[in-house]
Amino acid sequence: MIKPEAVAAGNMGKILDMIINGGFKVIALKYTRLSRQEAGSFYEVHKERPFYGELVDYMASGPIVVAILEKDNAMEDFRKLIGATDPAQAAEGTIRKNFAESKAKNAVHGSDSDENAALEGDFFFSGRERF
Ligand code: CMP
Repeated sequence: MIKPEAVAAGNMGKILDMIINGGFKVIALKYTRLSRQEAGSFYEVHKERPFYGELVDYMASGPIVVAILEKDNAMEDFRKLIGATDPAQAAEGTIRKNFAESKAKNAVHGSDSDENAALEGDFFFSGRERF
């Protein structure tokens, strides 16, 4: 997922380029916007965290790009490509090092397990939107 501030800053093309150059195959792709209710549901696992309300407002604040990506070892390799949640701790050359504003506005989201990748893919895409 390319988050609202990264889209608003005009970085969606550069970020998609890094993803594709990183060897990921795009299986599904969409430009969309979450309602507050949808953002709350997507991030339900963080419901008890102090930043949940801020996270939901932010994720619903503007359009986003969502994708399903395929690669050997995709989940771990994508997390390497995006870098640490906090851009101050993200390695050089990572998407968050290049484009994230802060720990909250951190440019991109990647699934944290294959199981969650399947659930998150189903959240956004029907079967006929996958290639
Ligand atoms: P993401 O990888 O999408 O997973 C959960 C999101 O919550 C995270 O990226 C950030 O956008 C946000 N987040 C995580 N930690 C904090 C924090 N300490 N303060 C505010 N937002 C946070």
